[in-house]
Amino acid sequence: MDMVSHHTRFVDVDGEHDYVGNFLTTGDKTMKELGMTLIGCFVISIFFALKVYPNLEYTGYSSNSSCYGECYEEYVRVNGTLSEIMEKKREIANADEFSSIRGLWAGCAACHGQEGQGMAVFPALAGQSSDYITQRLYAYKNRETVGAMSSTMWAQAGMLSDSDIQTIGKFIEETMK
Ligand code: HEC
Repeated sequence: MDMVSHHTRFVDVDGEHDYVGNFLTTGDKTMKELGMTLIGCFVISIFFALKVYPNLEYTGYSSNSSCYGECYEEYVRVNGTLSEIMEKKREIANADEFSSIRGLWAGCAACHGQEGQGMAVFPALAGQSSDYITQRLYAYKNRETVGAMSSTMWAQAGMLSDSDIQTIGKFIEETMK
């Protein structure tokens, strides 16, 4: 009697062992599948974050018009409403007091260097005061001769408005020390 119950218990214990072993391998597989799924989701969200989302933002209003219901709610949640987007853009433009001449400056930079450091025969502008820059620009605008190559600057200064000249002077003084 004692032997039998002992034997039975032994079998039982063995069975439990087997069960535990099985459970572990099944669990392992499940974890692997879950892992793959998570990685899949991750890759898709990266793709969305890098490819789809910037495009959404870039194409702005057009993509918005074909997007209703949940899609639109999601769009609004991420980007804000149209007026909020416009407001944000205005705020960014206002925060940059030089936004009006940054495009112009790209032309100047072709000769004077991105940081106004000067290049070859083109004089450096960095380190000059706003007064100096504006005086020179008005002189060129009036077709006055400053140096040997003033004629190069006549056309450049000719296209600048008074407010452009003031802003460029400030821009050079404040950002190119
Ligand atoms: C095609 C090349 C070129 C471009 C583009 C150009 N410049 Fe010039 N810039 C010159 C040259 C050359 C001189 C020297 C002119 C001289 O001899 O008087 C000069 C001189 C100047 C000076 C006087 C510097 C000094 O110390 O006397 C200022 C200020 C200036 N440029 C500003 C600008 C601004 C602002 C722009 C853009 C709106 C611009 N330049 C675009 C070539 C250029």
